[in-house]
Amino acid sequence: MTSRGQFITFEGTEGVGKSTQLANAADTLERLGIDYIVTREPGGTPMAEAIRELLLAPREEPVNDMTELLLMFAARAQHLHTRILPELKAGRWVLCDRFTDATFAYQGGGRGVPAERIAQLESLVQGDFRPDQIILLDAPVETGMTRARHRGELDRFEQEAVAFFERIRQTYLKRAAADPGRYHLVDAAQPLETVSRDVVRLIQGLARTA
Ligand code: TMP
Repeated sequence: MTSRGQFITFEGTEGVGKSTQLANAADTLERLGIDYIVTREPGGTPMAEAIRELLLAPREEPVNDMTELLLMFAARAQHLHTRILPELKAGRWVLCDRFTDATFAYQGGGRGVPAERIAQLESLVQGDFRPDQIILLDAPVETGMTRARHRGELDRFEQEAVAFFERIRQTYLKRAAADPGRYHLVDAAQPLETVSRDVVRLIQGLARTA
């Protein structure tokens, strides 16, 4: 029987270098001969990517917090049930750029939706399913926002003020402190080679114990 793959998520505020570190993690699994896929949220399937476009597009119409929250979970339901779970069942590891911790951080900490509301939807959509490991790339908000601004056009989230991202960062840090067995905090303000080395070591360690 194939053993279930590991579900590893990457979290952090804007511009902390998630894409680079996801690529490093993928390279590490490749070198170790472990089968994996890389995916992202919101998105990861054609329908969930269409929902992502709806969510990220800047628009004149104010977006209601509940609409945003439900769309995040609608995309997640599609991604989880049609892609993530089948891949894990087939024995592949899934490296995912954001998952439900981002909802607690952005819609909870950022927008102010009560965490209990989010937890209800989490149970409804996921049952008991949670990430096996969460890699939190943490850096001061200003550092990340400067990087995000250099990437070009800002999406609907990136257009928010510094205070919004500060609340998000603090929510992530609180969640990490409350669940140290699952969360791995990486200081993303260090030089890139140091961050990359930390992430590679982390993935190697997870591969040894999986
Ligand atoms: P990305 O820029 O890291 O790809 O993420 C897209 C945006 O979506 C980012 O600003 C964070 C936001 N987001 C939420 O607000 N809630 C969520 O649950 C997820 C997965 C992402």
